Amino acid sequence: MTYDPAENARKSYDVAIDAMREKLASFRCERVGDATLYLGDCREILPLLPKVDAVVTDPPYGIGYAAQPIVGKGKQRSNHEKREWDDQTADLSPVLAAADAHIIWGGNYYPLPPTRGWLSWFKPDAPPSLSHFELAWTSIDRTSRQISQSIAATNGERAGHPTQKPLRVIEWCLDFLPDASTILDPFMGSGTTGVACAKLGRKFIGIELEPKYFDIACKRIDDAYRQPRLFKDEPPKPKQETLI
Ligand SMILES: C[S@@+](CC[C@H](N)C(=O)[O-])C[C@H]1O[C@@H](n2cnc3c(N)ncnc32)[C@H](O)[C@@H]1O
Repeated sequence: MTYDPAENARKSYDVAIDAMREKLASFRCERVGDATLYLGDCREILPLLPKVDAVVTDPPYGIGYAAQPIVGKGKQRSNHEKREWDDQTADLSPVLAAADAHIIWGGNYYPLPPTRGWLSWFKPDAPPSLSHFELAWTSIDRTSRQISQSIAATNGERAGHPTQKPLRVIEWCLDFLPDASTILDPFMGSGTTGVACAKLGRKFIGIELEPKYFDIACKRIDDAYRQPRLFKDEPPKPKQETLI
């Protein structure tokens, strides 16, 4: 039998793909509508997934327990439960490699390249002890934008995650990615990005490390698919009328 280098390369490729499929299959995976949800560490799962159109995510800010101290007379206390997953920032290199377009909340806590396209969520009712706005770094070459959304208006959405993002803010993010049909959130938390995708007709891949947050995300995204969608068919394109 003669040695065929091309055939050998094909076989090695097939073996590698089978090994990746097998590894991916070892993670718990739930499919809900157009959403695929993985329970596990995104550092292990991301290299096993194909590239997507865009990442919209909210990784740990690395500010953990000291996140929002309330300074009283000579003492400091925290009004938040301890969040161990938030003690350190994450390695974003596999996240950046996963797509060409990115919106990363808390991007100001990460060493990301300069951008002009920052997004800001302004919280008009934030008390002095809380941040009055949050920033998202984007790889989108456009002018910066801000949305105002009160914390009070978001309270009704709370599903059990301490840093849950308001749905309206994440839906607004998707407006900046009109051509992205598949969106990835590797730090899914309670699944707000997945809920926005379900409502706006985008495919979604979510990854979450903590089983209790993963279960909340599965339920919220399932509920979102059960509700009537915000859109039906593509709206008709405006027609240019002749002026004279
Ligand atoms: C800031 S929260 C996301 C909150 C989310 N935007 C929401 O609205 O619920 C970050 C999440 O990333 C998860 N996480 C941290 N490290 C992770 C990792 N290596 N892989 C997957 N998830 C991770 C944490 O458990 C936490 O739920």
